[in-house]
Amino acid sequence: MSGINVRYLKKSDSAQVAPLIFRLTKNVVEPEKLQERIEALATNLGSYQFFVAEKKIKDEWRVIGFGGLVWYQIPSKGLTAWYEEIVVDEAFERQGVATEIMKVLDALAKVLGAKQIKLTTDLAQGLYESNDFKVKEEVLMIKKYY
Ligand SMILES: CC(C)(COP(=O)(O)OP(=O)(O)OC[C@H]1O[C@@H](n2cnc3c(N)ncnc32)[C@H](O)[C@@H]1OP(=O)(O)O)[C@@H](O)C(=O)NCCC(=O)NCCS
Repeated sequence: MSGINVRYLKKSDSAQVAPLIFRLTKNVVEPEKLQERIEALATNLGSYQFFVAEKKIKDEWRVIGFGGLVWYQIPSKGLTAWYEEIVVDEAFERQGVATEIMKVLDALAKVLGAKQIKLTTDLAQGLYESNDFKVKEEVLMIKKYY
């Protein structure tokens, strides 16, 4: 998509990113702390990097997409990365915004030396298949503390 820019998440993006996270899931844990969590992610103290996609609309850059990469070492496969919370503003869907975010995530994974990238998805399998991901049948198990 032309005219979009994918860059690192900044603290000041939190108000524009929060509605995207509510779009991603109705089950946001402690929603009153959501913006605070987004701001903390922008400080980047861990093995993760979050990005926003922005588009210039009437001379102002507006955040229209979000997504991140997290990574860690595991014994069997080496450096493993995950896509996290990729979401695009409804008004800008199917214009290649998520594809641009994935290009940046993939480039980072490559620079880091990741041996594989994993993700979970429910409704957007086609998006990831369009970026060469293959389905691996496994059971996702979660122990919830919320
Ligand atoms: C899923 C989502 C991130 C896709 O963003 P997007 O910017 O519209 O995606 P792109 O335009 O880059 O799509 C590229 C290709 O992926 C596929 N694709 C995109 N969205 C898809 C969907 N919902 N289902 C199946 N395939 C999809 C299509 O092949 C598309 O190419 P096409 O438009 O030429 O057919 C966006 O629709 C969204 O935020 N949805 C709600 C949140 C969500 O489900 N996020 C995924 C969490 S795992």
